[in-house]
Amino acid sequence: MQVIQDKEELKSVLEKQQTDNLAVGFVPTMGALHKGHLSLVEQALTENDIVVVSIFVNPTQFDNKEDLEKYPNTLKEDIELLRTISNNIILFTPTKEGIYDGQITSKTYEFNGLEKVMEGAFRPGHFNGVATIVELLLTTVNPNKAYFGEKDFQQLQIITKLVANKKLPVTIVPCPISREENGLARSSRNERLSKTTRKAAGFIFNTLQTAKRKFGTENVQDIKEWVQHAFAQNTIFEMEYFEITDESTLTPAKKVQSDLKYRAFIAVYADGVRLIDNMPLN
Ligand code: PAF
Repeated sequence: MQVIQDKEELKSVLEKQQTDNLAVGFVPTMGALHKGHLSLVEQALTENDIVVVSIFVNPTQFDNKEDLEKYPNTLKEDIELLRTISNNIILFTPTKEGIYDGQITSKTYEFNGLEKVMEGAFRPGHFNGVATIVELLLTTVNPNKAYFGEKDFQQLQIITKLVANKKLPVTIVPCPISREENGLARSSRNERLSKTTRKAAGFIFNTLQTAKRKFGTENVQDIKEWVQHAFAQNTIFEMEYFEITDESTLTPAKKVQSDLKYRAFIAVYADGVRLIDNMPLN
């Protein structure tokens, strides 16, 4: 496995692959790799000749300084893990200055309101940071396909819009949420939870599942109140938001339309760690 830090070096290595007509898959990550990331890498390996995995903790997408400082860094283990999977992986580990050309700031984007709700409302500037780095990474790697997990469903929709708006020649491939035994969505931040909290975190998944069951028979407002009540009674998890929206516009649903697809979204705090999850409802 090649490990490359310099973006010009990466581009010249990839240009050779592309002139040989080899399909390039791309899995962008912030490291602290877990089984969820590995399932993206494995899917990418089956659909492409070569897979670029990037590890870069992007400072511009963190609205909370402490979250950035505490973001786990396990680069040595990540490299070992990727080495065991395949020789057809190139690991890209840019520096801040290198990937941003010295200008470590976000651009400002508009995504038809997708960026204004939920994560966009609670994490100001977050999606500008995500879109800035993803645009930089996609134009550097220039892959045929790029893989994003549905755990960050709003991010996935925003990146799909970014690619359409900027006419980037890449197919965005959504990948299903990978879950721990108790249903907790896999995330690098799970490492920061205490053992007890991590065990109890199946509560988030179970609540989403009950909301899904209720979706067929109860109205949206009643389901939201039920979820709020369930979390109010729980002493470990503090709910930040629970929302039911249609999948394409992400606008909060009031009346349900039979021709639309809906999804429930949740953000909670536990042990000072922010966790998000979501689930399709119909
Ligand atoms: O989902 C993530 O890990 C990050 O937001 C991404 C897409 C790698 C951009 O920094």
